[in-house]
Formats: sequence, structure tokens, C-alpha cells
Amino acid sequence: MFGRSERREAPAFQKPKITDIHCHILPGVDDGSHSMNQSRRMLDLAWENGIRTIIATPHFMPEGPHPSVDRLERLAEELREYAYEQNYDMEIYTGNEIYYHQEAPELLEEGKILTLAGSSYVLVEFAPAEDARYIRNALAAIQAAGYDPVLAHVERYMNLCRKPYEQIRQLRDLGVLIQVNANAIEGKMGPQARKITGELLKRQWVDFVATDAHSDRGRSHAIGECLELLYRKYPAEYVENILWRNAQRLFLGK
Ligand SMILES: [Fe+2]
Repeated sequence: MFGRSERREAPAFQKPKITDIHCHILPGVDDGSHSMNQSRRMLDLAWENGIRTIIATPHFMPEGPHPSVDRLERLAEELREYAYEQNYDMEIYTGNEIYYHQEAPELLEEGKILTLAGSSYVLVEFAPAEDARYIRNALAAIQAAGYDPVLAHVERYMNLCRKPYEQIRQLRDLGVLIQVNANAIEGKMGPQARKITGELLKRQWVDFVATDAHSDRGRSHAIGECLELLYRKYPAEYVENILWRNAQRLFLGK
């Protein structure tokens, strides 16, 4: 028997490389980073946590504001310059987190909404209480327009995430990719979100873990607790896929 203070140590794991496909690191364009200084601190933290590729995904909400693609690219370039000065061997790309609305496929077509790192993949979110059929139809509309949807922080959608998670299985069968947030895995979004992410990870139905970082504190790039938990509970090869390989292969063609 192990007493409280004698609990088994988690097996040591090599610090993995991470691709963060969902974060709000560009300053002054949404409810994420407030300033370039804060963005730099976020980048420092990402580097310390093993994040080696970042896709910056500011919100694209139907009601706006809609910062221009040029502005987003300029801000990303400023961050790349900072990474270079700091000697961070890191790649930074742009994208958007699209709050789904009817015009989204058309705006993607016109280049006003960004795909993930210029790939055919797009990060899409919905209201947490959105109807499951609406979500399914919306994702199908994105596919019909020629894009591949990645469903952002799936653990939030209460009408999709009901046991036995049949709706998630169906979406996956239709080719929708599934992203969960690191802080939900850690339990920082409550027991329900932790339970859902655990069930989906156990079935290996998660394609990406991302930080959804909005700041250098709170919901940030500090992902250590999540990594420890993932490597303790799930096969190492699967964990590497959802942290690094899937995104490298699908979005960056590597
Ligand atoms: Fe987000």
C-alpha cells in the first residue's frame, strides 16, 4: 500500500515538442494579448514549455471587429523577429478561430478569414449551448466549400458531448477533426470538461491538444501539468501525434 506521501512518481518523459494550433497571442486584435509586450511574454512562456510551432488564431466573430489580414501578418512578423532575437527556433503562422456564421465559407473564399497556416484546415467554434444539428450542418457547409474543419475546444459543446459520445464519433466519421484545450484536460475548466476530455482521449478521438492561451497568466502557454497527465495516462505515440505530428503533417505538410 502506498500512503499519501508515498504515491508513485509519474514515469519521467522527455520534454516533447509541441505545435500549438490555437492561441490568441497576437496583440490588440481580440480578447487575447493586450500589447506586444504581453505577446512577447507569452512567446517566452511558450518557448519554455516546449512549444516550437505556433499558429496564432485570433477570433473572427461575425459582429467584428475584423482586423485586416495584412495587420495580422504584420503582427506575426513582429513576433517572428522577437523569436529570432531571442534565439528561439520557433515557427509562427497565422490563422483564425472562426465563430461560425453563414457568411464564413464565403469570407474564407475571399481570403478575409484565414485558414490554419495557409492550409485547407480551418478552426471553427460555436456557442457552448449550440444545437448539435446546427453544428453538424455548419461543419458540412465548410466542407462543401472545400475546407477541412477542426472543431475548437469540443469539450464545451454540451449538446455534442453526451455519453456515449456518439455525436463526436459521427463527426469524426465525416472527417471533422477534434481539438481539446489543455486546461480542460488539467481540470481547470471544471470536472465536467475534465471528464469529457478524458473520455475522448481514452477513445483516441482527439486530434489536437492546444492551449487556447489568451494571456501570459491564467489561460496561458504553461502546459506542463497537461503533458504530465497525458504521458502518464495515454500511449506515448498517440500523445506525440496530438501534440506535434498531426498538425505538422496536416497543416504544414511535414
Ligand atoms: Fe480560442
